[in-house]
Amino acid sequence: MSISESQIHSWAQDYASKTPREILDLALDHYPNSAISFSGAEDVVLIHMAAQLKKPFRVFTLDTGRLHIETYEFLEKVRIHFNIEIEVTFPEAQAISEFTQKKGLFSFYQEGHNECCGIRKVAPLRKKLATLDAWITGQRKDQSPNTRQEVPVVQKDAGFSTAEHPLVKFNPLANWSSTQVWQYIRAYDIPYNAAHEKGFISIGCQPCTRPVLPNQHEREGRWWWEEATKKECGLHTATNQE
Ligand code: ADX
Ligand code: SF4
Repeated sequence: MSISESQIHSWAQDYASKTPREILDLALDHYPNSAISFSGAEDVVLIHMAAQLKKPFRVFTLDTGRLHIETYEFLEKVRIHFNIEIEVTFPEAQAISEFTQKKGLFSFYQEGHNECCGIRKVAPLRKKLATLDAWITGQRKDQSPNTRQEVPVVQKDAGFSTAEHPLVKFNPLANWSSTQVWQYIRAYDIPYNAAHEKGFISIGCQPCTRPVLPNQHEREGRWWWEEATKKECGLHTATNQE
């Protein structure tokens, strides 16, 4: 599907103060070939909103092979609770096999997370997005003071668009706070990832996520051995490799 950048720009302005539900509705109306990118954490609210809109929607998740057991259990709970199919991506077998054979299973603690995230998350995502016209994420500005302050509610995806295949990215929760997300989860009695009961706020891969202490920002529990400005795995910062 061709997209006009001026259309996206005007949506970004017109929908900047609209509700997540309205932004999601816009995405589903205009992009039937789109999918919600579900991490298995509090972005479950997007699935609840989409189900309430009673329009067809798709959900995919990136199974890195290193998720918390609670996340796998939660993915299954969500699949059954909402009676949906979850499209699961996996790392490419040859690449992950060569990588782990050469560098072991925990090289990210010494070498940084880029190589592992590249194989386990970014490459599978790139392959998935090549089949879609738009994706819908649970990114929020308040998730990271260092990297997510400018997240718009809709944008042309700068990382995964190509000249032949432009891609739109919707971030319906961009302006919601963590408090609003959790109020929504409680108000609608939506299932949540049991890891949250163990002190995890932001949930990623098990070896790269830890609970935070009172008054620590949720992002401090992710890749805690790296600088704050590098705490992105490439899903939302990938550079274009056209
Ligand atoms: S990450 O880039 O640091 O890992 P984060 O955990 O904050 O991302 O989640 C932000 C959004 O990225 C999620 O709401 C979701 O849309 C997407 N995302 C993150 N991890 C995954 C995953 N494993 N599978 C699918 N989408 C994901
Ligand atoms: Fe690998 Fe950690 Fe990135 Fe997961 S978050 S893909 S385990 S480096």
